[in-house]
Amino acid sequence: MTYDLVITNGTCVTASDIAALDIAIQNGKIALLAPSGSLAGASAVQVIDAEGGYITPGGIDCHVHLQEPAMFGGKGRSADNYESGTRSAIAGGNTTIIAFAPLQKDEISPLAAVHATHALARGNCYCDYSFHLLMGNASATALQELPRLKHEEGISSVKIYMTYKALQLRDNEILSILLTARAHEILTMIHAENGDVLDWLTDQLELAQKISPKYHSNSRPPILEAEATNRAIALSSLVANTPILLVHVSDPQAALRIREAQTQGQPVFAETCPQYLFLTRDDLDRPGFEGAKYICSPPPRRKEDQGAIWRGLQNGTFSVLSSDHCPFSFDDEEKGKKSCITREHPEGHFRHVPNGLPGVETRLPLVVSASKLRLTEFVAVASTNPAKLYGLYPRKGALLPGVSDADLTIWYPEGKFGGDLTLKNDMLHHDADYTPYEGRKLGNWPRYTVLRGKVVWDRDNGGVVGEKGYGKFVKRGSAVDVWDKVDEAGFDLEEL
Ligand code: URP
Ligand code: ZN
Ligand code: ZN
Repeated sequence: MTYDLVITNGTCVTASDIAALDIAIQNGKIALLAPSGSLAGASAVQVIDAEGGYITPGGIDCHVHLQEPAMFGGKGRSADNYESGTRSAIAGGNTTIIAFAPLQKDEISPLAAVHATHALARGNCYCDYSFHLLMGNASATALQELPRLKHEEGISSVKIYMTYKALQLRDNEILSILLTARAHEILTMIHAENGDVLDWLTDQLELAQKISPKYHSNSRPPILEAEATNRAIALSSLVANTPILLVHVSDPQAALRIREAQTQGQPVFAETCPQYLFLTRDDLDRPGFEGAKYICSPPPRRKEDQGAIWRGLQNGTFSVLSSDHCPFSFDDEEKGKKSCITREHPEGHFRHVPNGLPGVETRLPLVVSASKLRLTEFVAVASTNPAKLYGLYPRKGALLPGVSDADLTIWYPEGKFGGDLTLKNDMLHHDADYTPYEGRKLGNWPRYTVLRGKVVWDRDNGGVVGEKGYGKFVKRGSAVDVWDKVDEAGFDLEEL
């Protein structure tokens, strides 16, 4: 037997176990896990000596924005397309991303939205990919098409917004979406910030001429996130405990409310992101317009809030850690952060700064380097739980012989960099002109990324060695271990 690829001398880490194992790969799948050293002499087309480094299931970044129209404040356009975004993803140890197929307020067909997004991604991706439907309206046609989206297109999640003028849904619209999603085992992701209040606060700040980047944070204080999180949880409980996933949670009070709902047995899941672990509201107050580099929503909070967010990752309040990669270049007056600079506002205006940060490539190295999660916890939130919640498991997010795709991240042996690895934007493979993490010291970086048995990232020998177009669309099913606990009786007006 000649294997396609054998990896020796590594320590495999899954969401539950750590063991020194050799890995044999055949036809894009994990073929065999064997005691360390036992595959040293095996016949193989290619052999990688992991030199004692950790081997984890490939990263799954389940929250990535690419090539979407301007919807997140201002008129910016994404710095990355599917080509550069997925190139950046593999260089940061990811093998799958889930991006968004946007259905805008005035559009009626989710199927058309998905087909249009396929046309942008097809043939352009370096890693495997799927889409969430970004649902900007709850029209009858949009709701009617959701079953086909799930059963024909393999799209088992939608994201809805409680803020942004272009996307905000009213509570009745949210309820209609939840009810339809429940009937077809579609997971509803919710961006929870109170849009009406933050619009009012933005007007107040504008009247007081407080418009520099730092006031983005004042326009979206934590109470707006906690209130909307509580409301989202209440709405999901009203429609017979429909499963929801609160995205990019930044506020400890919101996390506490989520924890409470989970303790009560409600199917409430949550995500956080590196910006809430490593950045603070003080970053928005950097000199001049520099603070705009850190404008995202919700905004980074106070330094003292970060501990609670790390704890939420450790104790399972947050099932997933994703990047919310939403890149806008800084020094770009047409489509970047500086597109808000006008004759009227020569210093810019936070209201018009496109919201979002680049981060698909830095998510895994930043969190591994911080050493605050057990390695098994890290694998759970960065790969296995996203695969389970978004219906990719066990094909993705696991190392199960004969079952899982051979999607791997191979890390450098510990101590390799001795504190000398400094993050700089010119190391990265996105098309944004900055990283919000410039100058951070890192302890590790993915050395190899393997996608379906093929090395696509080899940091020391060529960098990105995968090919554009090798990444394929992956159809997804229902979330694992979620729907079986949902009461079959469903929503009953008599029970209210
Ligand atoms: O500021 C952010 N988070 N931009 C991306 C859009 C979103 O709401 O995820
Ligand atoms: Zn969002
Ligand atoms: Zn997002």
